[in-house]
Amino acid sequence: VVFFWDERLDRERPITRERIALTARDQAFGRERAPQLARAELERRLVRVRAATEALCAELSPEDAALQSMPDASPAKWHLGHTTWFFETFVLRALPRFRAFSPDYAYLFNSYYESIGPHLRRDARGLLSRPSLAEVYEYRSVVTAQLLELIEAGRGDWDVLGPRIELGLHHEEQHQELLLTDIKHLFAQNPLQPAYRLPGRTHNAGPAPALGFKVHAGGLLPIGKQGDGFVFDNERPEHLHFLAPYALGDRLITNAEYLEFVRDSGYERPELWLSDGTRWLSAQKISLPLYWQEAGEQSWAAFTLAGLLPLNPSDPVCHVSYYEADAYARWAGARLPTEAEWENAARHQAVRGNLLESGEFQPRPVEPGESQFFGDTWEWTQSAYAPYPGYVPPAGALGEYNAKFMCNQQVLRGGSCVTPSEHIRASYRNFFGPETRWQFAGIRLARNT
Ligand SMILES: [Fe+2]
Repeated sequence: VVFFWDERLDRERPITRERIALTARDQAFGRERAPQLARAELERRLVRVRAATEALCAELSPEDAALQSMPDASPAKWHLGHTTWFFETFVLRALPRFRAFSPDYAYLFNSYYESIGPHLRRDARGLLSRPSLAEVYEYRSVVTAQLLELIEAGRGDWDVLGPRIELGLHHEEQHQELLLTDIKHLFAQNPLQPAYRLPGRTHNAGPAPALGFKVHAGGLLPIGKQGDGFVFDNERPEHLHFLAPYALGDRLITNAEYLEFVRDSGYERPELWLSDGTRWLSAQKISLPLYWQEAGEQSWAAFTLAGLLPLNPSDPVCHVSYYEADAYARWAGARLPTEAEWENAARHQAVRGNLLESGEFQPRPVEPGESQFFGDTWEWTQSAYAPYPGYVPPAGALGEYNAKFMCNQQVLRGGSCVTPSEHIRASYRNFFGPETRWQFAGIRLARNT
């Protein structure tokens, strides 16, 4: 039981986990009135998103949840705390009589918001043996309850706080994907090669259909935010962008196709690699995608969230860096798409595919008639992550969410098999450094026409 200040009664009153469940049940019976619909929808989403994060962690031991496998990856416990800190900082702190759950958590769970205050070094997140996992769950429970109270009462400046709660939900969904990518990287370091989940259904291991290219006419075309739904600031403003005619691969590149590149000494041929990529290759001694290993003569295995499995030739290749994707494209006589080419092709496609909700957590072979724009793997583009013309970052600390990373990163599009379906759209711009491999990132080819 936690206590929360009820402004209507002007006193503290208890809130329980049961109260959260009741709120969700009441809504299921349609008790909300039309003027409250936006708040009721937000309440439903809050309960669903917060529970989904915890469900992803349900099978983790406290030891699993505390470890950090590399500076770029965070422990599950830190993700659980940080997503909660985000709501506490950007929503609850704005309310009168705000009391932080713990004065230490602002330091522990602030990721990179310098204008909020000092924070724990990123590479030290795996040293947090305290607070315990149970304490972090308690923190989540208290903050979730406070948010539900806030939504129900509509207190504070709702025009500001409502959109911030929505932002917090999209932020948490972003971390759901990171949680899984980080657990995969962590488990891959363990000599026991544990499985996070049981293997899903097996897919046809036969060859993928022949790769085709669809021609797009080009022209002066709209790019960026579309419609009225939520978008991140970096997707704005919608603007016109000129595209020359181009052709785009009608599916992702498969493991079998990438293996041809490996067998053709693709990693050893300097003419295929960017200068930065050559330096990265020799420093890192890279010769295969991350998580691949030889399992015998001419046979390969890949570490997955279901443990070590034989490499399925028709699955999309995954966990390659931008350098590898670019070198593969050159070897194949093609190039990577620009983000505008990708978005123009995907703009009128339904958001449908192998996303988090499929529960597979692994890319799968293309289905007949599908083009894999959404889900399976993020797609590296040749576009540097930069502001759109006319972009203005949000005022205050939230301006740090996206804007300060607009340097030395490549844009990826389309979401992956661990992206929540509510979190992805044609205009969504993901971004990572070109050396990044632990994200679920793969390859779609493009060509000039
Ligand atoms: Fe974050």
